[in-house]
Amino acid sequence: MENANTQYRTITIAFFSGTGCTETVADCLHEQLAETGMDIKKIKISCDSPGIGQTDLLMILSPVYAFSLADIVEKWIKKLPGTNKTSVAIIPVSGEGMYLPILPVRLEVESF
Ligand SMILES: Cc1cc2nc3c(=O)[nH]c(=O)nc-3n(C[C@H](O)[C@H](O)[C@H](O)COP(=O)(O)O)c2cc1C
Repeated sequence: MENANTQYRTITIAFFSGTGCTETVADCLHEQLAETGMDIKKIKISCDSPGIGQTDLLMILSPVYAFSLADIVEKWIKKLPGTNKTSVAIIPVSGEGMYLPILPVRLEVESF
């Protein structure tokens, strides 16, 4: 991937996928980012508490279901340990993209 931001050494891609589309996006990101030489880890989001370990950037991929993130993803995010050292990117994978006004209301992401 050209022009990748090299300030991150380690990136964790966490994803949930109901029917496979989000997993395809996660696989693509994983493949492209790995080419930069960064340490890229990919984990599936489940009902368990998050165990992401140390990472510079946490990328959270979720399908959009009914104008919001998948419920399992929201619950997983809310269980993340608090830290101000990890950058977080939430990447919704949707059929349309009508979710944007809803994310800030439903997720209090500033605390991790
Ligand atoms: C029950 C259900 C609800 C959905 N709701 C929305 C929606 O509100 N907005 C949207 O843009 N796409 C919506 N979609 C489309 C999904 O976001 C899209 O197909 C996504 O890529 C599915 O990801 P997945 O294959 O990883 O589960 C919905 C799909 C399903 C099955």
